[in-house]
Amino acid sequence: MTQRVLTGITTTGTPHLGNYVGAIRPAIAASRTPDVESFLFLADYHALIKCDDPSRIERSRQQLAATWLAAGLDPERVTFYRQSDIPEIPELTWLLTCVTAKGQMNRAHAYKASVDVNVAAGEDADAGINMGLYCYPILMAADILMFNAHQVPVGRDQIQHIEMARDVAQRFNHLYGGGREFFVLPEAAIEPDMALLPGLDGRKMSKSYDNVIPLFEGGAKALKEAIARIVTDSKLPGEPKEPEGAHLVTLFDAFATPEQAAAFRTELRAGLAWGEAKQRLFELIDGQLAPMRARYETLMAQPAELEAILLAGAAKARRIAAPLLAELRAAVGLRRMVAAPVATEAKAKVKTAQAVFKQYRESDGQFYFKLSAFDGRLLLQSQAFAGGREAGEWVKKLKTDGAAALSTAPVSLAAGVTLDDAAQALRSFEG
Ligand code: TRP
Repeated sequence: MTQRVLTGITTTGTPHLGNYVGAIRPAIAASRTPDVESFLFLADYHALIKCDDPSRIERSRQQLAATWLAAGLDPERVTFYRQSDIPEIPELTWLLTCVTAKGQMNRAHAYKASVDVNVAAGEDADAGINMGLYCYPILMAADILMFNAHQVPVGRDQIQHIEMARDVAQRFNHLYGGGREFFVLPEAAIEPDMALLPGLDGRKMSKSYDNVIPLFEGGAKALKEAIARIVTDSKLPGEPKEPEGAHLVTLFDAFATPEQAAAFRTELRAGLAWGEAKQRLFELIDGQLAPMRARYETLMAQPAELEAILLAGAAKARRIAAPLLAELRAAVGLRRMVAAPVATEAKAKVKTAQAVFKQYRESDGQFYFKLSAFDGRLLLQSQAFAGGREAGEWVKKLKTDGAAALSTAPVSLAAGVTLDDAAQALRSFEG
């Protein structure tokens, strides 16, 4: 079965080499796997939670879009879009917000960490915390559930968010599904060897440590300058160097074939100068990045083209999001007023159009029932029951309680049938 894989990238920063090795390169490789349907989006609503600088948001969206495309993302193959181009996402966020327990949000790590910082500083617990941060997991759940993603590749810090998305999906399915699973329960896909690339000083490469190597911005010159600043030990040229544990070597490994990695080690042990080693590292990385950098620069110079690609991606995404959202709206009761719900007049009318329950036993020995409309169209199909009595009791319950029993009844809607259709047919047993 095709697996749907979905990831979001918050649009606050400029991608660096660590992002490329740890996230961009593996995600693009994964998107080329057969039987995988990839969804990749710029989480720009999420960016607003932690950044109130509009020009930074604007720049980051453009840089990220250009980076992913330049690095080889194929927008024909992958559904690539901006979160904020999909109005169904904030709409779903609200439906999910209304079935999410506040207590669960109180326990979200990101929110709790901010509270802890405040408390430690002797401030009010919620000082400087906006509702965006507080409700962040619900927006993220909507991102994932909107497309019924099976797998969500994320870092460890995001596992709790995926668990919350599963919880809210389950709750919504249970409350409104009427036996139907609107949402797939997503799973976090944690890359076990998700290589954390070291930065210039050997700590994890991160903007907050100011130790990053830029990916495309600043061109080959900026790459070279950053590599020159990599910290090494003070062994002189000609002195043997220990490659294992040197983060310059770890950086080299991230781009090298096994043969290149082995040869580099041999040379260092034989006394290769660090300056020379940095030159080799630059050439290796630049050899791979230069063609992508050229594409990046072209795209950055043509924002209209980026815009067109993203809008096409949004249209593709909305072809999935819009029909699902329409069903969800109907499920919660936000329906068009055409099917005149419980008016007595309507009751009289459907009386003549009597729906029928049929109970039967299959060759598997199990008992079933189904509901068909007056014209024979299949509406509801039950699950299997071990005994006929249980099946009969459910039929009775559906006849007496009508649509109210739908949310708990072990039945599923037939293809193309809405909850409204089923509810309407059940009304024919009233009175
Ligand atoms: N919260 C994620 C992060 O900070 C980004 C993100 C937003 C995301 N929505 C998502 C990731 C949905 C996966 C799926 O990294």
